[in-house]
Amino acid sequence: MNQELISIHEVAKTVTEAMDTRHSIREYESKEVPQEILQRIFTKALRSPSWKNSQPWKVHIVSGEKRKELSEALTNAAKSSSPTPETGWPESYPSDAKKRMFDLGMKIYGVAGIDRKDKEARDEFMLRNFSFFGAPTAVFITSKFDLNFFVGIDLGCFLQSVLLLAREEGLGTCPQAALGAFPVMVRNALDLPNEEKVIMGLSIGYPKANSDLNRYHTPREEANDLIRVY
Ligand SMILES: Cc1cc2nc3c(=O)[nH]c(=O)nc-3n(C[C@H](O)[C@H](O)[C@H](O)COP(=O)(O)O)c2cc1C
Repeated sequence: MNQELISIHEVAKTVTEAMDTRHSIREYESKEVPQEILQRIFTKALRSPSWKNSQPWKVHIVSGEKRKELSEALTNAAKSSSPTPETGWPESYPSDAKKRMFDLGMKIYGVAGIDRKDKEARDEFMLRNFSFFGAPTAVFITSKFDLNFFVGIDLGCFLQSVLLLAREEGLGTCPQAALGAFPVMVRNALDLPNEEKVIMGLSIGYPKANSDLNRYHTPREEANDLIRVY
């Protein structure tokens, strides 16, 4: 198997297959995902572990007209204002992580056919976050908990469950911090109470066929460098 370009159109039958083949999908078919499949994925993901079983998550599955409305509101916000996330986005990283992040940008722009020096094209690509990369369904994860490290871990466990369960249904996903960039828009569109914070979101749908962008499989550091056995 080419380690960089793989297909994720097959259904993952085991957790290992889902882990091996999952990567973020940034081009989707317009075909709707049946509601019962979405229900199945998110209901199963509720089995995710959390600190003292506190279950800090709430999920909003948005398709159809509401998805269109939100996409327009978020895209306009992104074009005219700076992000105001409620989660406190990271401001600095260790130098080795910075390198990985830079490499990711280079590779993604490369497979998307974007010249890294072309700022307009990069901005356009960034804006695709807010049209959910063409996915027919957007999902927003919210929480009314005071945000702390362990709530973040709980939500991360939930998110990973969703990403793997989606692979079992033959679906692609892209987790997106960007979907928490303009919480006011999401709160207004979904009529959320003030105490419910918009953490992030994800796009979910059928991966677009014949898309090199979709086939790009991000590399990982060597296990030997990260896992020590005593
Ligand atoms: C918490 C979190 C936030 C992310 N936010 C975004 C985002 O806003 N936009 C995006 O295109 N990808 C986003 N990603 C996807 C990452 O870029 C991606 O997971 C990472 O590069 C590894 O690649 P892979 O998912 O293809 O394995 C996010 C992933 C996580 C876990």
